[in-house]
Amino acid sequence: MTSCEPDRNLALELVRVTETAALAAGRFMGRNDKNGSDEAAVEAMRLMLNSIEMEGTVIIGEGEKDDAPMLFNGEKLGTGNPPEVDIAVDPIDGTRLLALGRANALATVAVADRGSMFDPGPFVYMQKIAVGPSAKGAIDVEASPLENLNRIAHAKRCGVDDLTVVVLDRPRHEQLLAELRATDARIRLITDGDVAGAVMTAWPESGIDVLMGVGGTPEGVLSACALQCMGGELQGKLWPRNGEEIQRGEAMGYDFDVVLGMEDLVRSDNCFFAATGITDGELVNGVKYYGNGARTHSLVMRSTSGTVREIATRHRWEKLMRFSNIANGKD
Ligand code: FBP
Repeated sequence: MTSCEPDRNLALELVRVTETAALAAGRFMGRNDKNGSDEAAVEAMRLMLNSIEMEGTVIIGEGEKDDAPMLFNGEKLGTGNPPEVDIAVDPIDGTRLLALGRANALATVAVADRGSMFDPGPFVYMQKIAVGPSAKGAIDVEASPLENLNRIAHAKRCGVDDLTVVVLDRPRHEQLLAELRATDARIRLITDGDVAGAVMTAWPESGIDVLMGVGGTPEGVLSACALQCMGGELQGKLWPRNGEEIQRGEAMGYDFDVVLGMEDLVRSDNCFFAATGITDGELVNGVKYYGNGARTHSLVMRSTSGTVREIATRHRWEKLMRFSNIANGKD
């Protein structure tokens, strides 16, 4: 067995990015100000990402779908020195969750080797199925919900009635829900936040076994990065909203029939992911503010080692304000 020197774990630097975004966005909890919170999180993320030693290009930005403030696709971030990397961001996954003070809003970011992340272009939706390590290899996004559940149950050595499926609560899922309800599986409908939903499949304490349904494409790539680190699997297929999108996609060389596996979504085993809770959730706690500081809770992962860290951080304004004006999300 050969050994090598431990090298840099970029995820430990990325957690400062998601912590800062969460600290800035958390002030907006329940205030029904989606744009205000997005702007604060984006601003915080950009500032921190630019402090990291890397030559990063944003492959997965956010904002097109909702016309929200964004880190735009193609934007260059970092100090401009090597390594060259692709960046995927979702400064707030669950803007509406945050706006209404609901659970599971996260600040997330992923980084991988340059050229390794799937670029979905302008296509905002993807049909997805995601599982944790114990059902890796058992899923097929083109198979029926029942068949997938049978395969997952077999892989996990349990019954379909022991499985819980997480699904975004959307009218487009009427048929999926009817098919799921014809099985014995339990269903967890979420109003938003399918990055958290996907990550939960690889987090046994969450009690979630599989994510199914159509959600955001950027969230799909971010989730694939997280599951790459956690040993899980996500499969997706771009989901056009109408004939115009199909025509546009074909002209741009996208194939809506192709199944996107892990190797298509993030073609690198050198990938890093960090997420910080903005509101409380099953994966991580949300930001807690107190007089002179705040507490954050994050997940930090790296695919090469497979290490998943939970980081609880105490931030002290009085110290932070000496070198950062965004530290506590206040002007
Ligand atoms: P944002 O908060 O980034 O807008 O995303 C929330 C979200 O629920 C995602 O987690 C999910 O993938 C997507 O929106 C689903 O899109 P839509 O709300 O249009 O169905």
